[in-house]
Amino acid sequence: MFRRNLLILLIAFSVQILLITCTNTKKYVKDEKNIKKFEVKDPHSYSNPDKISVKHIELDLEIFWDTKILGGTATLFFDRRDAGKHPDTLILDTRDLQIQKITSLKGNERKWWFEKTDSIFGTALCIELAKTDSIVTITYKTKSAAALQWLTPAQTHDKTDPFLYSQSQAILARTWIPCQDAPAVKFTYNARVKTLPGYLALMSATNPQTTNDSGIYHFVMEQPISSYLLALSSGKIEFKSLGYNCGIYAEPGMLANAAWEFADMQKMVDAAGKLYGTYMWKRYDLLVLPPSFPFGGMENPRLTFATPTVITGDRSQVSLVAHELAHSWSGNLVTNSTWNDFWLNEGFTTYFEQRIMEQLYGKEYEQMRKVLSWGDLLKTINELKADNLMQDSKLQLDLTGRDPDDGLSDIAYEKGRFFLCHLESVVGRENWDAFLKKYFSSHAFSYMDTKGFAEYLNEELLNKNKDWQKKANINGWIYEEGLPQDAIKPVSAELNKVDATLKLYSKGIIKPESFDTSGFTSFHWQYLIREFSKTATLAQVTSFDKVFHFSNRGNSEICCDWFALSIKVGYLQNRPQISNFLCSVGRRKFLMPIYEALSQKPADLNWAKSVFEKAKSGYHSVSEHSVKELLY
Ligand code: BES
Ligand code: ZN
Repeated sequence: MFRRNLLILLIAFSVQILLITCTNTKKYVKDEKNIKKFEVKDPHSYSNPDKISVKHIELDLEIFWDTKILGGTATLFFDRRDAGKHPDTLILDTRDLQIQKITSLKGNERKWWFEKTDSIFGTALCIELAKTDSIVTITYKTKSAAALQWLTPAQTHDKTDPFLYSQSQAILARTWIPCQDAPAVKFTYNARVKTLPGYLALMSATNPQTTNDSGIYHFVMEQPISSYLLALSSGKIEFKSLGYNCGIYAEPGMLANAAWEFADMQKMVDAAGKLYGTYMWKRYDLLVLPPSFPFGGMENPRLTFATPTVITGDRSQVSLVAHELAHSWSGNLVTNSTWNDFWLNEGFTTYFEQRIMEQLYGKEYEQMRKVLSWGDLLKTINELKADNLMQDSKLQLDLTGRDPDDGLSDIAYEKGRFFLCHLESVVGRENWDAFLKKYFSSHAFSYMDTKGFAEYLNEELLNKNKDWQKKANINGWIYEEGLPQDAIKPVSAELNKVDATLKLYSKGIIKPESFDTSGFTSFHWQYLIREFSKTATLAQVTSFDKVFHFSNRGNSEICCDWFALSIKVGYLQNRPQISNFLCSVGRRKFLMPIYEALSQKPADLNWAKSVFEKAKSGYHSVSEHSVKELLY
């Protein structure tokens, strides 16, 4: 009997292995009911949504603070292509999950097993379904979930209570919820979450604004979302309204500053809706996390998660809100089909962010930011060239077999954005805006790949005018390496003044003390540091620090650029500040350039390792992993 079962199991295994071949093609095919059939082959998911697709998840979870475990049940509701015809296997993505039991609607146990294990992609969870099953309940616990960071009180702003938050993008949702962890799969969800009484729990869904005595909260996300947008946070958190449909959540000691910094949030929400169509998610709130958050922001629907490093006291980094808000259209509504099409999320969002910022703060403000980004993009392309990775400078990526995080670079954000700026200039702003608005509304709550976008662009816009078609050069932008010749280099009159000042300085005509820096914004300073960096010597860096006190600025963008330069020229006086920065900030964008600069010389590398050993317990796994790869 046992042997027969084993044989059946073995046959099932081989069939599954055949099923779990991950290639990377997609066609839009309509089935007999004229509904878009799921034909995406996602190279980063083991799941089988082409046969069985999860449509809704009910979570019932408890946060166990002492053991740093999340546990409970996930009930999955799914559609089956061959509904009722024969038994079948539902395949889900998991990573480091401890599965305790899987039952059917009536509470009967279902057979399950793990298949394939990979340190990045995790483990396929296979569940044998009876003919009529359309629901399963999985009882499970997390095991050191890479998505979750459990902070001690000392690692928070207020230092009084522990704090928990998740980061699911790109493929970490599977480390805390068994799911079809592929961006093209969309489902609604409800959740009941139990935390400590007195703490708030928040998700990417309807959220409470005050704590209750039970510590139990209920959440509803009634619009279909992708798994990478599943999010949870809990701790001593308070809320402050910033308008009729937006507000801020933060630790109590942080709330007033955060509210001041993001005072323009309602204006942004309104401006975004006017640009590209109705905001579909009802509320837009923002949660300020402790400084270990590995990203600037994360566009969790209805509740952006954000780093506190953007609370600079001068409102200079509020574009982060515009960016994450813009994802409510590009990304959350129209989602990249797989991570190979990441630029459809980030390039569109960076473009949309630019339009919101321009509307609120004017053209010159945005030109300054654009010039800085252009510099970032050229630097990224040069680095890819030096590392022999020019295939990653294409908008259409091929990340098969690789961590999708490898696609996170200025190519998706900035080459993507400059492509859209180029298209805007070809067809004119009015035509372009009408096209984008229609693009968002006609693909809402669905997904898009690069080829599909190019087709849609041609059909809806470029084919209407031969001249546009010729000038658009879409193949050059999407499928070729580097930056096409027709990219429009941004110019900023304000930053040209900085160039002029530096020119006088390099000719010995003026000293740093007599630079005219009145009216300088953080963008002027950042640009000044970056241009200065190109030729700076140790003596010059020393004198600049004396005059401008860059090492002691509160603005992390400035600190990051300045510290990288200091390390490059061997300026050692600010090592305490650098160490302090690396030990208190976990945002990967800032950590990487500094550790990178430190890894060039053996003595610096040793110092970096000793700082990292102290700092790493405060980093989220995403940042810890990246820094470790760089240093060791
Ligand atoms: N969705 C991204 C963050 C992300 C991308 C996390 C890929 C994991 C994998 C978010 O919208 C983002 O782009 N954040 C930026 C903010 C910035 C552009 C304002 C960041 O974190 O730096
Ligand atoms: Zn983004």
